[in-house]
Amino acid sequence: MLAVQSVQAQPAYKNQNEPMEHRIADLVGRMTLEEKILQLNQSAFGENLNPNNRSEKVGDIPPEIGSLIFLSEDPVLRNEIQRRAMDKSRLGIPILFGFDVIHGMRTVYPIPLAQACSWNPALVSQAAGMAARETKLTGIDWTFSPMIDIARDPRWGRVAEGFGEDPYAASAFCVATVRGYQGTNLSKPNSIAACLKHFAGYGMSEGGRDYHASDISAQSLWETYLPPYEAGVKAGAATLMSAFNDISGVPATANHYLLTEVLKQRWGHDGFVVSDWNAIEQLIAQGVAKDRKQAGLKSFQAGVEMDMVDRAYSDYLKELVDEGKVSMDLINESVARVLRVKFRLGLFDQPYTTTVAESERYLQPVDKIVAAKLAEESMVLLKNEKEILPLSSKIKALAIIGPLAKDKANLLGCWSGNGKEQDVESIFDGLASEFGTRLKLSYARGCVFDGEDESGFDEAVAIASRADAVLVCLGEKKSWSGENASRSTIALPVIQEKLVARLKLAGKPIVLVLSNGRPLELQRLEPMANAIVEIWQPGIAGGTPLAGILSGRVNPSGRLAITFPLTTGQIPTYYNMRTSARPWGGKYQDIPTEPLYWFGHGLSYTTFKYGKATLSADKLTRAQKLTVQVPVKNTGTVKGAETVFWYISDPVCSISRPGKELKFFQKKEINPGETVVFSFEIDPQRDLSYPDGKGKRLLEAGDFYIQVGNQKLTFELVENLRSTAAVSAAAIGSQIKAKTVKD
Ligand code: NOJ
Repeated sequence: MLAVQSVQAQPAYKNQNEPMEHRIADLVGRMTLEEKILQLNQSAFGENLNPNNRSEKVGDIPPEIGSLIFLSEDPVLRNEIQRRAMDKSRLGIPILFGFDVIHGMRTVYPIPLAQACSWNPALVSQAAGMAARETKLTGIDWTFSPMIDIARDPRWGRVAEGFGEDPYAASAFCVATVRGYQGTNLSKPNSIAACLKHFAGYGMSEGGRDYHASDISAQSLWETYLPPYEAGVKAGAATLMSAFNDISGVPATANHYLLTEVLKQRWGHDGFVVSDWNAIEQLIAQGVAKDRKQAGLKSFQAGVEMDMVDRAYSDYLKELVDEGKVSMDLINESVARVLRVKFRLGLFDQPYTTTVAESERYLQPVDKIVAAKLAEESMVLLKNEKEILPLSSKIKALAIIGPLAKDKANLLGCWSGNGKEQDVESIFDGLASEFGTRLKLSYARGCVFDGEDESGFDEAVAIASRADAVLVCLGEKKSWSGENASRSTIALPVIQEKLVARLKLAGKPIVLVLSNGRPLELQRLEPMANAIVEIWQPGIAGGTPLAGILSGRVNPSGRLAITFPLTTGQIPTYYNMRTSARPWGGKYQDIPTEPLYWFGHGLSYTTFKYGKATLSADKLTRAQKLTVQVPVKNTGTVKGAETVFWYISDPVCSISRPGKELKFFQKKEINPGETVVFSFEIDPQRDLSYPDGKGKRLLEAGDFYIQVGNQKLTFELVENLRSTAAVSAAAIGSQIKAKTVKD
C-alpha cells in the first residue's frame, strides 16, 4: 500500500511511463518564472581555449541552469555538476552539457570540408557516430555541429568547417552527420544531440571577413543557404544555433522570419535554437538594439530559446515579463522546447554519464580505422603529370621537405575537440612505416610556415639533389582556419613558394603535398609540381593514407567539394553560378576566368570510361518519374572508386536557374575491366522544382537537361502526355506555366 502511495506521489514528469509531452507540460506547470528563465540560459564551465569566446569565470553555476558549455575532459566532474543540479535544485532538472565537437572529440577526423570530398556519406555518418560515443563518454550530450553554411569565399576561415559550395552536397553530408550523432533514438547510450549552425547565411560574410554583414537576396537565401538546414531539420536535428551575421540588415539572432516563421511554423521544428556566443549582446553593435535588455527582448521574441553566455535572459527576461513585453505563453513554449530536447536525450531518466577509463573511452582501434579510411577517401589527387604517382620502383631515395613534413599539431585542423598532438601520425611517420627500407627517406624542413627565413633552403636543396624524387609538404597552420581566421589571399606565404622554386633547381620530380583548411591559390606552385595531393587537415590518421596513395596501395578517390580558383581575384568562383548575360564576355583582362580546379575535380590511378547515358523516357508529367542511367567501365589496370555526379539544368524559367545544379551523386568501386551501371531516378517535385524568394516551390513545364560526365541529355516536363504541343510553347518561354508544389 505504501509503495503504491509513493508511486502516486511521484510527479508525472519523473515518471518514465508517462508520454513525453505530458511530462513536459507537468514540469512546466510546476516551475516558477525564475526557474523557467534559468532553463533558457547557458554558461561556460572551465577554460575556453578559443580566444574569440572569452570564457567567463563560472564557479557559482546555479543548479537550475539550462545548459553548460563543458570545457573539460573529465566526465566525473561533469557528473558532480549534474548531481548538484539533480539533488540541490527544487525540481531536479538535468543540465544539458554542450561542446564543439566538429570533426571528432579525441579521435580527430578530417575537417568537414575534407569529409565532403570523400563523397561517402555513409562513412561520414560512421565517423560522426564514433565521435558521438567519445563525446557522450566525456559527459557531453550535445555538439554544436554540423556546420552547414554554404561558403563560396575561401578567404573566410570557416570554409574548413562546412561541406563546401554546393547546397545539395551540404544537405547530404548534413543528414549523414546528424544521423551519425543522433542515431535512431537520442536516448540511446551513444547518441548526442546535433546543432545545425549557423542559421543562416553566415558563409556569405562580406569580403570573407568573419562576423561581417551579409547581404543575401530572398532568392539566394532559399535556393542556396536554407536547403541544408531544411534537410537537417527533416533528418531530426534536435537544435539549431543562430548565426552572428545579419541578413540584409536583420541579424539572424533577431530574425523572426527565419527562426519562427520558417523554422518553427513552416518546417515544424520542435527543438530549440541557441544563440551563438555573445550573439545577443552583439545586436547592439549590429545596430538593432540600444542595450542588452532590448537585445534580449528582440532575440527572444524572434525565436532564440537559449542564451549562450550573454546573460541577457537571466538579467532581463523577468523584467520584460513583468512589463508585459514578453508573454508567459512564449516563456512556457520556449522552456518546453528546451525540456523536450532533454527528455529526448533521456537525461531525466539517466542524467549521469557512464564513466569508463580513458583508455576505453578514446582512440579505440575501430575509431582509428575509420579516421584513416575517411582521411584516405577525402584526399584528392589534383595533378599527376606523366603518372609520376604512384612512385615507381625506380625511385629509391625520396627527400621529404617542408614545414608540414614532420608537423603533427597542424594536421588536426581547426576546432579539433579534445584532440592531442601526441595522437597524430605525421606525414613522415606514415611514409616511414609504409616504405620501410624499400625507400631511403631523407628530411629537411626547408622553412617554417611563414616569414622570410630562407636559411634552411640550402640543406633542403642538398637532400633533394641526392634523392630520386622530392616530396614537398606545404600548407596552412590550423590557426589560419576556423573562427575569426580570414585571410586576404588564399595563396600560401611567399616563403613556401620560394622553397619550391629553389628545390626545382635540383632537377628532380616534385610531388607537392598540401594540407590546408581552404582552397588555395596555386597558380605559381602548380606549374612547378609534377604531382599534387591535397590531404586537407586529415586529423590524427593522415600519414598512412597519404603514404598508401604515394606507394599505390591506395587508389585516390577524393573529388573536390569546393572549387579552387586560379587566383584570389577570381573569388567568388563556384560551379553553380548563374550564366552570364554575355557568356563570351565578362572576362578578366589580366587573368584567365577559369578556375584551376573545378568542383568535382579529382584524379585516379585508373581510367573510367562513361558509356552512353540513357533516359527511360524523354517526356514526363509532374506525377511521373524518370530514370537515367550511365554505364561506367574501369578501363585501367587497378581497382578504383568513381563518383558519378548528376546535374540538372533548367534553361528557361520564370526565375533563372544556375547553369547546372547537382541533384545526386554516388560513389562505387569498380574492378579493372568491370562495368557498373549508375542510375538516378528523377523525381520532378524534388529535382526539377525550385524555390522562389518566399520559399514556395515552382515546378515549370518545359525542357530540362540532365548532365553526367560530359554528356547532356534533354527531356521535357509536360502538363500531360497527350498535349505536348501546348507544352512546347511553354518551353519556349512565352507562357511558362508555374505551379506551386507542396513544400
Ligand atoms: C562561436 C562559434 O561561432 C560557434 O560555432 C561555436 O559553436 C560557439 N562559439 C561555441 O563555442
